Amino acid sequence: MKIELRHIHKHFGPVHANDDITLTIPSGSIFGLLGENGAGKSTLMKILSGYFHPDAGEIRVNGSPVVLHSPADAIRFGIGMLHQDPMDFPPMRVIDNFMVGYPEGLTLPRAAARAALESISARFGFTLDPDAFVGSLTVGERQQLEIARLLWLGAQVLIFDEPTTGISAQQKEKLFAALRRLAEAGKTVIFVTHKLEEVQILCDQVAVLRAGKVVGQTRAPYDLDALVRMMFGKAVSKGQRTSAPLGDVVLQIKRLAVEDIRLRIAGVNLEVREGEVIGLAGMEGSGQRHLLRACAGLVRPVEGEIWVDGENLTGKGYHEFMRRGVAYVPAARLEEGLVPTLTLMEHVILADEQRGLVIDRQTALEKTRDRIATFNIRGRPNLPVESLSGGNQQRALLALLRPGLRLILMEHPTRGLDMESAIWVWETLKRRCREERTAIFFMSSDLEEILHYSDRILVFFSGQVSEPIPAEGTTTEQLGQLIGGRGFPSGKEVQP
Ligand SMILES: Nc1ncnc2c1ncn2[C@@H]1O[C@H](COP(=O)(O)OP(=O)(O)OP(=O)(O)O)[C@@H](O)[C@H]1O
Ligand SMILES: [Mg+2]
Repeated sequence: MKIELRHIHKHFGPVHANDDITLTIPSGSIFGLLGENGAGKSTLMKILSGYFHPDAGEIRVNGSPVVLHSPADAIRFGIGMLHQDPMDFPPMRVIDNFMVGYPEGLTLPRAAARAALESISARFGFTLDPDAFVGSLTVGERQQLEIARLLWLGAQVLIFDEPTTGISAQQKEKLFAALRRLAEAGKTVIFVTHKLEEVQILCDQVAVLRAGKVVGQTRAPYDLDALVRMMFGKAVSKGQRTSAPLGDVVLQIKRLAVEDIRLRIAGVNLEVREGEVIGLAGMEGSGQRHLLRACAGLVRPVEGEIWVDGENLTGKGYHEFMRRGVAYVPAARLEEGLVPTLTLMEHVILADEQRGLVIDRQTALEKTRDRIATFNIRGRPNLPVESLSGGNQQRALLALLRPGLRLILMEHPTRGLDMESAIWVWETLKRRCREERTAIFFMSSDLEEILHYSDRILVFFSGQVSEPIPAEGTTTEQLGQLIGGRGFPSGKEVQP
């Protein structure tokens, strides 16, 4: 199905999120939509899938103008979207979630739905257990479920809004294979991203958005430097590796063991010094998060000790760690870090140490404006956080970290951020290391990020933890092999 967007405009207050966008998207291939954080990608795709109404402009499907009043309307025209934040229902079973939105819902035989789910799964290489609860699925499986559901509802156009955020390298391979199969089957596949590598390996052609406008369009093979210049209006690069001078020991981990029902990590010993950055590498779910959470007092170790600034904090809770200058930045922004429906300003008020019972709104407002300026957040103080673009939510989360911290623990500090924002985030973090002597402990699935910004690296492989490795001189390839299990005593090697 051929899609044409013509002169689309969308405003949010003073923000011109889509500014006269005209694009033609063919069927049978993968069309990339590339752009920096806040460029207007999600807004445009929400318009195409019936979530938003454009202020002006026209959508044409196979040459005929259509007006989409709702997502249900869009799916009737064959247009379906997988959102940046999952929109499924965790307490439901897979098969029930699969049946959501089916028009003849009342008399729908479950057996038919099961058969349909099975046949779609077989065609696209999905592994979905119809009776599992959605809440127990990985993000990758939840995507498979949503793709299957949209296909069953008759989608001819499938929109993927940054679908690789939060899935493992393996799941990404599977997802890309499925997208290629969709395109081969004649569907129109739109792939939204800010990652150049993904455009390069997946998309047949790409349109670049910047500040609400289409600033360029090109086809494979790509000139990556030219794409970067289109995205940001200038060349952008990571620069040299830098390290802050190391000071006293901030964090000591002694013979630590942490476990939950799925995994146990044990025998971890480590000293982290002022100014030091430690990267935790490993496939998602290999134990990195357990260690980070233990170091923040969010989970209680089953063995061993955690010391901060020479004090034994083993068994203490998060508040005690926080009082000692430890901060935790979770990955699930809208589930754990930010509070949906609360505005940016309310977050600033909440994050501030309370100085009395009366909240001074004027001071809070000024403070919020100040953070917005310093952290380059595209948004206003009275906007609810969930209306910020994904990248701006991450900036907001970082803007809430107070100055003078001793130790910052981070899950995926730059997940969802474009290249320029990621570089900027690390500049501010490294400045804390240098000027405030803060130590940083972070996990990431991006090997380049780990190698570029860490001083030392711990590799996790199904609950086993390596000795610290110096980042300097380690290659991406070597790190990839370690993550896959090479050199770990269990001997078993798996492909990362
Ligand atoms: N519901 C809303 N209310 C107010 N402003 C909004 C809303 N949705 C989006 N915006 C603003 O519109 C602009 C474009 O946002 P959009 O989410 O489309 O960007 P994006 O390209 O998807 O960015 P990202 O890569 O960070 O997800 C941003 O400045 C954002 O804050
Ligand atoms: Mg977006």
